[in-house]
Amino acid sequence: MTNMQRESNPQANYTEAYRPQYHITPESGWLNDPNGMVYYHGRYHFFYQYYPDSKFPADIKYWGHVSSEDPAHWEQHPVALAPDAYGSIWSGSAVVDWNNTSGLFDDTADKTGLVAYYTSFELGTGRQRQCMAYSTDDGITWQKYKGGAPVIDTDDDPLSDGAFRDPKVFWHEESGQWMMIVAGGPVRFYSSSNLIDWKPQGMQPAITTECPDFYRLPVDGDESRQKWVLSGAGVWYMIGDFKEVDGLWTFVPDSDQRYNFNFGPDVYAGQTFSDVPGRRILMEWMVHIGYPFETGSITDPWNGAITLPYEIRLETREEEIKLVQEPVEELADLRSKEHSWENLLLTEDTPNPLADLQLDKCEILARIDMSGAEEAAFDLRLGNNQVTTVSYNRLTGMLSVDRRASGANPKPDFPDVYTKSIKAQNGIIELHMFLDWSSLEVFADGSVCTALIYPDRDSTGLGLRVAGGTAKVERLQIFEQASMFR
Ligand code: FRU
Repeated sequence: MTNMQRESNPQANYTEAYRPQYHITPESGWLNDPNGMVYYHGRYHFFYQYYPDSKFPADIKYWGHVSSEDPAHWEQHPVALAPDAYGSIWSGSAVVDWNNTSGLFDDTADKTGLVAYYTSFELGTGRQRQCMAYSTDDGITWQKYKGGAPVIDTDDDPLSDGAFRDPKVFWHEESGQWMMIVAGGPVRFYSSSNLIDWKPQGMQPAITTECPDFYRLPVDGDESRQKWVLSGAGVWYMIGDFKEVDGLWTFVPDSDQRYNFNFGPDVYAGQTFSDVPGRRILMEWMVHIGYPFETGSITDPWNGAITLPYEIRLETREEEIKLVQEPVEELADLRSKEHSWENLLLTEDTPNPLADLQLDKCEILARIDMSGAEEAAFDLRLGNNQVTTVSYNRLTGMLSVDRRASGANPKPDFPDVYTKSIKAQNGIIELHMFLDWSSLEVFADGSVCTALIYPDRDSTGLGLRVAGGTAKVERLQIFEQASMFR
């Protein structure tokens, strides 16, 4: 984001306390869910629930818009969708109409365009209806279809449940038509041949969530073995199939088991990009739904941030199909100066090898042989009696992220420790971490912990400690991160 943005918004200077330097935030005001994530003409478009007038939310929402060619550096665009006579613009999705099935793109150069779906939330009544908008200029400006009138009205909801929102549209290869999953409320599916007229499919009152997402992925990279993932607001997922049951397309889960996306506290409303060739990329609102308001008492003039892009796959782990997550490789474009070490032997008597470094944001890659040690710990954002610690204990097999003393706390239950059992392979543990001005994302063996932290600006020390023997740090790379605000 850019000079242009700074000029357009004198309130924000992008160096405010806790302002993430390489994560999406609103210049000022409130941000919540990711919306309309779509890859088109070489750019990743990311929209978000936005309330420009305050750091604290209101029913009134807009779609804010940033885009990127990486996706590592994001450029701010003008607001994409604003409230109208039908109501406020709540969460939704976008797709590329590659074959002009809507007939809306007869006049674009390649006869394609973007179609977005959102929930119109009627102010006063709270009525929720699905509406559509389209763009013929790569997502910069949007026309509301029929002036914002609903394409799926409350009467078109066979479940007649007032909570009816957050449409996610996708192309369904098997039946050769568009599908929408919408929830709020219970999960409902609709189908369409032209993106405009929608017909009810499976209605699934047993599964309720906000912000659903639904996509098919190969298992263990095997294209002939595909499974559907149903995401409940980016917090939990279920695995199964998408089948015709009594003539209606329905999600049929393999079991009732719901797995967590993240072993940290701070992900919600995650969505994946539509139309990215060959991979599926997830981004989430970086907050726990228990304290999105409270974070606004700490950050200013903005409130709300988005995770880094995580590439997701399905893998068989101990005979269960699980979702694994890695940071997208393009994040390497944010690296600046590198500090690296090889074959470092550490005991509890070794002086801190990172004592000379002062970093408020960085990327850390570590490969540590733990066979001869009980515990290894990275201390981050150290200083002023503050520290955030990432440690691995070989005896318990637990990876821990401890933010009990990380800095300012939006809520009394914010300071906590988050753990996940991670198998060391031949005694070796590999960690990949991203630290920013108010967040930490730790990846290990396909799992991720996403945690907000609010350390003082000058708590920038780093440490590496070992307990219970000798650990061999086979490789350690620490990259200073560039800010994306060039
Ligand atoms: C989830 C949510 C959505 C809704 C949006 C409104 O955070 O409640 O269900 O569409 O926020 O901003």
